[in-house]
Amino acid sequence: MRFVFTFGLGCLLLGSQMLALQKAYNSDFQLYIGNTVISSKPTSINTDLKSAINKANEFVSKLTLTEKAGMVTGAATTGGCTGNIAPIKRIGFPGLCVSDGPAAVNPADLVSIFPAGVTTAASWDRDLIYKRAFALGSEFRGKGTNIALAPVAAALGRHPLGGTNWEGFGPDPYLSGTTMGLTIKGMQTAGVQTSSKHFIGSEQETQRHDISSNIDDRTLHELYLWPFAEAVKAGTASILCSYNRINQTHSCENSDLLNRILKKELGFQGYVMSDFFATTSGVKSIHAGLDLNVPGVINAGSTKTYFGDHVIKAVNNGSVSQARVDDMVRRIMTPYFLLGQDQGYPTTDLSVGCLQSCGTGFTPGCGNNQTCNIFARDVRGDHASLIRELGAAGTVLLKNTNSALPLRAPKNIGVFGNDAADLADGLAFVQPLPEEGFDIGTLAIGGGPGSGRHSYIVSPLEAIKARARKIAARVQYITNNAILASNDFHGIYPVPDVCLVFLKTYGAEEQDRTSFELSWNSTAVVNNVALHCPNTVVVTHSGGVNTMPWATNPNVTAILAAHYPGQETGNSIVDILWGDVNPSAKLPYTIPVKESDYHIPIVNSTSPSGDWQSDFTEGLFIDYRHFDENDITPLFEFGYGLSYTTFEITSPLSITTLSKSITALPDPSRTIEPGGNPDLWASLLSAKTTVSNTGPVVGSAVIQLYISFPRNTVPEGTPVKVLRGFEKVRLKVGEKKSVTFDLTRRDVSFWDTVAQDWRLPEGEFEISIGFSSRDLRISKTATFL
Ligand SMILES: *[C@@H]1O[C@H](CO)[C@@H](O)[C@H](O)[C@H]1NC(C)=O
Ligand SMILES: *[C@@H]1O[C@H](CO)[C@@H](O)[C@H](O)[C@H]1NC(C)=O
Ligand SMILES: *[C@@H]1O[C@H](CO)[C@@H](O)[C@H](O)[C@H]1NC(C)=O
Ligand SMILES: *[C@@H]1O[C@H](CO)[C@@H](O)[C@H](O)[C@H]1NC(C)=O
Ligand SMILES: *[C@@H]1O[C@H](CO)[C@@H](O)[C@H](O)[C@H]1NC(C)=O
Ligand SMILES: *[C@@H]1O[C@H](CO)[C@@H](O)[C@H](O)[C@H]1NC(C)=O
Repeated sequence: MRFVFTFGLGCLLLGSQMLALQKAYNSDFQLYIGNTVISSKPTSINTDLKSAINKANEFVSKLTLTEKAGMVTGAATTGGCTGNIAPIKRIGFPGLCVSDGPAAVNPADLVSIFPAGVTTAASWDRDLIYKRAFALGSEFRGKGTNIALAPVAAALGRHPLGGTNWEGFGPDPYLSGTTMGLTIKGMQTAGVQTSSKHFIGSEQETQRHDISSNIDDRTLHELYLWPFAEAVKAGTASILCSYNRINQTHSCENSDLLNRILKKELGFQGYVMSDFFATTSGVKSIHAGLDLNVPGVINAGSTKTYFGDHVIKAVNNGSVSQARVDDMVRRIMTPYFLLGQDQGYPTTDLSVGCLQSCGTGFTPGCGNNQTCNIFARDVRGDHASLIRELGAAGTVLLKNTNSALPLRAPKNIGVFGNDAADLADGLAFVQPLPEEGFDIGTLAIGGGPGSGRHSYIVSPLEAIKARARKIAARVQYITNNAILASNDFHGIYPVPDVCLVFLKTYGAEEQDRTSFELSWNSTAVVNNVALHCPNTVVVTHSGGVNTMPWATNPNVTAILAAHYPGQETGNSIVDILWGDVNPSAKLPYTIPVKESDYHIPIVNSTSPSGDWQSDFTEGLFIDYRHFDENDITPLFEFGYGLSYTTFEITSPLSITTLSKSITALPDPSRTIEPGGNPDLWASLLSAKTTVSNTGPVVGSAVIQLYISFPRNTVPEGTPVKVLRGFEKVRLKVGEKKSVTFDLTRRDVSFWDTVAQDWRLPEGEFEISIGFSSRDLRISKTATFL
């Protein structure tokens, strides 16, 4: 049994296998449009992948048509998996287990609750992003899950109020794409298959099953498809097609999307799997490129299916070729062999089944079932310290008047807000909750299937009390927001030296937010505390964009956007508040002054479902692209975040063009590899500068590179600037380091809808480097053509 014990060894062992998925292209993977094979040129192929394909072919050759139909049709949920592919006992195939979700194995006991996607992206830290993915992947593997329903690139975050924006990595395709690639590599190196989701244009939860996201070709390529291209390049085993329609056709039966764009243009060699109950047809979907129907039946509680016996009939009556069914099974099984899941993969943890069969845990009847208590497999390892570190690394310092933070040994600390307290309603909130979520208790992760069951949680109040005890400080608190909102502070005396206010915004699947402000009377809570306390520090736990009408209150001396930090939330924030960790996170989205600066309304139609239309008429202008285009000053811009030290760019920008005789389009004779034409990924330019720590403490800077396309040679609708590079650099006091960025052909091209390719425009580009999208310190021009 190949089990990965250490991080370093794991990378070595499996890194080469993952490279195989990235580098090789192979004629064994056919592209079907309907029953017709569109052949592809074979190239040399890595031996690991070749061997995996051989094993998959051998596997396919042993199956009867009935068994093949079973393989492409998910089975009823068993043993606690979110979904299953049934075992085939005759040939000793144990079946496959599919589980949620992007920040924890769910549902399951004795797992870690990791920082959410948005928190992870806010770290801008490649090393921590990878480590989280590896640790998370190890937990899926440990529980016996073959396929994790992660990571998330849609919702990208078109709507600031999107209910699941926190599951993904923010609305910038470059940051999201980079984080997708690293997350896939980390999780698959740990041995679990990833299913990158939700493909595509799945930007709102409201009416999500039938809404049609109407997206033009250029916007699709430059925004919404970009991170999926990274996912394919990183070798994601699977792509999960979404509930919504695109241009009126459901994603899972959209041949234009699945065959033409995903499999042909991006060279995706894995399998397309439906989101749960997202399949809307049989033969049509198979011809459109859907390879696996999960969980097999039309809806919960039904036994009807679009696949199953229909696949057998369709082959027998000639409407689907046997070869296409073989292709579907081969696509499903190749990653299984490539990741070595046939080599002693852990069995499914049966205790998870108890959680599922008992609804949400300890209910009568289940309490007596000893299986639940005895066999839960603890897969958490030493992940708590990584979670604590990443929770702090994803916390953005937005305001810090007169260096209010870090705290200077206060002896009288006030803690306020329902979000500071321990959970009062239990340790899991995977069931549907009202829009604002639960009242008393801190929010370390969002709700719904992307959530998880905490095996413990360190609340902010608990961690602050523990810290205060060490320094003999007193802690006074009110965690009832109704009392705070009514300005009743008679329970507090004397006025604390510092008042820490904790606010939250709940987000979950199947419901979008309706308010930009943080929940539970947040504005009244902050303003009332600040009325009494001239040193008020606000911490927000939220899945994304909020307005902060109290941000300019002079008594609010500091603001921290801590996102959803995971189970160590209290320890993570204490590390920041007391300065054991210097904040280094940057906003992966824009915070507006007021909601009208921003709002792309969520469609909430009263028409019949076939008429639900969401027209993406803003094109590329979402988030900072919109603020730049319309000259709107944000409250806190994309890429912004303070530190307890200061940084300077200390050398001019030096630019080297890496390739002579550059053409406008990528070489069309190149064989498509996973990720698309390999020319797109070739570096065309290298930019170099130096950054120095000019302040009083050690800290990490995030150097960001933005490009502006030449004005006259790109189509209308091109953003003022776009992020195309970032590096996080840790610097001691006075230390100086050089930073280099490589720009690929895709980075400096736009999607030419006529050529149907990425075009590098003629003329002068402006390359700018700085510390946020509105704090650019140096720039230089570059010309390719
Ligand atoms: C959707 O329709 C728009 C507008 O006609 C078009 O530009 C785009 O290519 C279509 N997308 C897909 C995936 O068919
Ligand atoms: C073949 O069978 C499939 C699956 O039942 C069905 O959808 C399709 O209409 C059939 N085609 C013909 C020509 O009978
Ligand atoms: C206990 O739970 C397991 C796992 O779900 C199940 O297989 C078993 O039938 C249950 N036993 C009883 C007595 O309910
Ligand atoms: C959609 O409309 C329903 C009914 O009016 C309302 O309850 C719900 O809050 C709306 N959802 C959003 C996201 O605005
Ligand atoms: C807001 O505060 C008022 C009292 O000022 C209270 O009646 C109301 O229930 C509070 N709402 C929430 C959501 O806490
Ligand atoms: C700020 O605090 C001072 C002192 O407690 C108080 O007098 C003043 O009203 C407060 N200002 C605001 C805007 O709350």
